Amino acid sequence: MQVKISKRAQILKPSPTLSVTALAKRMAAQGIDIISFGAGEPDFATPDYIKNAAHQALDQNFTYYTAAAGIPELRQAIAQKLLKDNNLTYSPDEILVSAGAKAALANVLLAVLDAGDEVLIPVPYWVSYPALVELCEAVPVYMPTSIENNFKITAAQLETTLAQLHHPKALILNSPNNPSGAVYAKEELVAIGEVCARHNILIISDEIYEKLIYDDRLHYSIAQISPEIQARTVIINGVSKAYAMTGWRLGWSAGPSSIIKSALLIQEHTLSCVNSITQKAAVAAYTTNDDSIEKMSQEFARRRDYLVTALNQIPHVTCPLPAGAFYAFPNIAYYFEDNNRGINNSIQLCEYLLQEFKVALVPGAAFGADEYVRFSYATSIENIIEGVKRFARGLKALIEA
Ligand SMILES: Cc1ncc(COP(=O)(O)O)c(C=O)c1O
Repeated sequence: MQVKISKRAQILKPSPTLSVTALAKRMAAQGIDIISFGAGEPDFATPDYIKNAAHQALDQNFTYYTAAAGIPELRQAIAQKLLKDNNLTYSPDEILVSAGAKAALANVLLAVLDAGDEVLIPVPYWVSYPALVELCEAVPVYMPTSIENNFKITAAQLETTLAQLHHPKALILNSPNNPSGAVYAKEELVAIGEVCARHNILIISDEIYEKLIYDDRLHYSIAQISPEIQARTVIINGVSKAYAMTGWRLGWSAGPSSIIKSALLIQEHTLSCVNSITQKAAVAAYTTNDDSIEKMSQEFARRRDYLVTALNQIPHVTCPLPAGAFYAFPNIAYYFEDNNRGINNSIQLCEYLLQEFKVALVPGAAFGADEYVRFSYATSIENIIEGVKRFARGLKALIEA
């Protein structure tokens, strides 16, 4: 029987970040010595105190369905985290625990978007934003940024873009950003928040990299600006990146109760609840004082410094110093202009580097920025040293006569 696939599903394409890592892993499994910069997850183990909480939950047979929104203990712990880290007050019924930040975002978008609603997405963007917006039959509106402006949109640009739209509904902000590492400063967010308030725009603030921020900078959530801005913001966050817990699948949304309630209904009929053991582990993550996150962040900063310095030493490569997350996003456009392989886009370049120089990167095209490639430094310093050498050799070979 030939079943016609829904239009909704047909518009989706495989996630390019997952495909590069999958291809690199397949090549590595065949015994090929690949250096992969594809990972979107910390290469550290989940801290022991979190694993112990999961063991304990199992031993206590905490293995049944939980409340769909998450166990009260966890929602309370998240509310306390929001107060302590972000100076924001939320009640537990304004918090929804979902199966990863990705699912948290999907539930919220499904709860607020109608067909034809326009959603503003700064470029470069995390790959799933456009896909999820389109899944809701809404329309992504891309806002370009520049390397000179550290890949950030401005309030003036937002104002100009909004003036051209007919059904603007929401803005998706991501700070610290994947793939650029950009971090918005408080003043920038205040100006953006003011425009959103004037145009009645919902702000979806993806803060999943909150804990990975360098050089004594502080994370600032746009919801902190004022109670009015908080009332038009949904924060997306979770344990995946901060606590090296990507495979456990736990993220959450925090926002106005009307939105959270609707997102909860969607979750009730699709997921039921997040894995009960994972929820107990997340309680431990949020309520235990431990320096493992801080140590992980220091190690990321050390690798970032090495990687970005090495990249900027390669002729015609420009890489700004990322302020957060664990990605570097160098511009490599020079190498498309005149090379001996006819390579003229980031996908072809990444294929060439993987096949011939055994180094895996994610093409900038995946994030809407074809003149770039993304390096994840969630890999050992030894791999970074060797991988950058391969990258440099690959680029040089492209322009050798
Ligand atoms: C910006 C951004 N948001 C959300 C996520 C998803 O996080 P989770 O693994 O918790 O679903 C990622 C993961 O790569 C990300 O980079």
